[in-house]
Amino acid sequence: MLKKTVVPQFQEGFLWGGATAANQLEGAFDADGKGLSTSDMAPFIPYDSRNGKDFTFDVNSVELEQYLSGDTDVYFPKRNGVDFYHRYKEDIALFAEMGFKVFRMSIAWPRIFPTGEEETPNEAGLAFYDKVLDELLKYNIEPLVTISHYEMPVALSQKYNGWEDRRLIDLYLKFANTLFDRYKDKVKYWITFNEMNMMLTSLYTGGGILEDKIKGSKEQVGYQATHHQFVASALAVKSGKEKMPNAQIGCMICRLETYAASSKPEDVLQTLKEDQMNLFYPEVQVRGEYPSYMNRYFKEQGIEIVKEAGDDEILRNNTVDFIAFSYYMTYIGKYDPNDNSNSGMLVSQIKNPHLELSQWGWPIDPIGLRIALNRLYDRYQKPLFVVENGLGAKDVLEEDGSIHDSYRIDYLRAHIEQMKEAVADGVELMGFTSWGPIDIISCSTSEMAKRYGFIYVDQDNLGNGTLDRYRKDSFYWYKQVIESNGEVL
Ligand code: BG6
Repeated sequence: MLKKTVVPQFQEGFLWGGATAANQLEGAFDADGKGLSTSDMAPFIPYDSRNGKDFTFDVNSVELEQYLSGDTDVYFPKRNGVDFYHRYKEDIALFAEMGFKVFRMSIAWPRIFPTGEEETPNEAGLAFYDKVLDELLKYNIEPLVTISHYEMPVALSQKYNGWEDRRLIDLYLKFANTLFDRYKDKVKYWITFNEMNMMLTSLYTGGGILEDKIKGSKEQVGYQATHHQFVASALAVKSGKEKMPNAQIGCMICRLETYAASSKPEDVLQTLKEDQMNLFYPEVQVRGEYPSYMNRYFKEQGIEIVKEAGDDEILRNNTVDFIAFSYYMTYIGKYDPNDNSNSGMLVSQIKNPHLELSQWGWPIDPIGLRIALNRLYDRYQKPLFVVENGLGAKDVLEEDGSIHDSYRIDYLRAHIEQMKEAVADGVELMGFTSWGPIDIISCSTSEMAKRYGFIYVDQDNLGNGTLDRYRKDSFYWYKQVIESNGEVL
C-alpha cells in the first residue's frame, strides 16, 4: 500500500515574533519615577568567581542592604538593560522589518507602582507603555504582555518578604487591574506570571523572597508563595475577563521535559514524579484544583499550604485560556533513594550522552520540543504558545558590522521543524516567540555575552559599548521564516 505523507505546515495567522522581559531589556531603572526592582539588585559576577553556580541572581538580606546603600563596587547590568526605554522606536522598527506578528514584553511593576503600595499609579510609567504599545500596533504587531516577569518593587521584598506574604495578592491585583483598565483596547493576549514553576529554583527571582529571612523550610515557603501566586493569577483572570471579554489570558511555565535515565522502573517512576512536579503549575491553572499527587507530596514532606476560605473556589472558577511555555532543554530523571526533594537545579545534573551542549552547558534537544508540545496538548487539550526558545551564544561583531551566527540559525531551524511536526500531530499551537530577539541581559547570569538575538547590541558585560544595533545573519533568516509562514527554513 502506498504510504501517504502529511505535509506539516503552520496555520494561517500563526503568531511569529520574539519575547523579552522589561528588567532585562529596558534599562532606565530610575527614570520618570520608577522605583527599584528586585532585578535591579542582581549583580554581575564573572563566571570564575561564582564557584560553578548557575545563577547570580539570588540575593540575601545582607547583600540587599549593602546594594541599596550604594556601598558596593558591583555592577548591576539589569539596571541599564539595553536601553530599550529610550530606543524602543528603533528596536520595534527592526522587529517590524523582520515581519513580527507578535511581541512578548513584560511591564515593570515598580514603573507603575514604585513601592507597590501607592494609592495611584505613576502616570509617567503608564505613559511609557502606551507609547510602546502604540508603536507596536502601528506596525500591526500584536502585544503579548506578561504582567509579572521575575521582578517586583524591592520595597515589597523588604517589607513583606515578597510572595511569602498573602498581602501580595491584593497588591498584584491592583497592579494587574491598572494595566487592564489602561491597556484593554491595545492588548488582547496576557500572561499572569512568567515561569511560576521556577519559584523553588530561586525564591528571590520568582517571589522576591530573601531566603535568609524565611521562617520554615524553603519548600514550605516556596509552595505557600506559589499558592499566593495561584490565587492572584486566578483573580487576575477573573477581573481581566470581566474588563476585557475578548482577552486571552494564559499561564506560563518553564517546560522541563524529562526522560528516564534507564528503563529501570524506579527511574521511570522517578521521572514521572519529577514531571508531575513540573506540571503541578498548569494543573492548578488549567484544571482549577490541586492535583492529588501534590497533596500526597505535601503531606509526606510535612508541608502545609495555608488556604483561606474561598481559595479553592477562586482557583476552580478562573482557569486560563492557553498554556504558554518556555523550552530550552530536557532533563534526565534517575532514582536516588537519598533524594526525594525538588532539586532546584537549573540544568539537570545528569548528562544526556545523546545531546550536544550550548556554550552555557544547556543540552540542545529539538525533538524534546515536539515531545513537550504533544505531552502538554494530550494532557490539557488547550491551545499552546511557545513563548521562549533560543540559543544563548557568544557572537562576534565583524569589522563590517556583520555577525555570522549560523549556529543560532541551525538551532532555531531544528526547533521550528519539530514544532511544525507537532502541529501536524494535531497540537493546537498559537505561535512562537523566540527568546531575546534583540540581545538583552541574561536572566540567570546577568551577562551581556550570552546573546539570543537576531539583533546584536554593542555592549559588554560591564556595560561598555555604543549600544548600537546590528542585524545578524539570523535576522535575515528569521525574516524569511516569517514571510513564508515557516515554509522556508
Ligand atoms: C527563561 C526566563 O527562563 O529563560 C528568561 O523566562 C530568561 O527571563 C531565559 O532570560 C533565558 O535564560 P538566560 O539565563 O539565558 O537569560
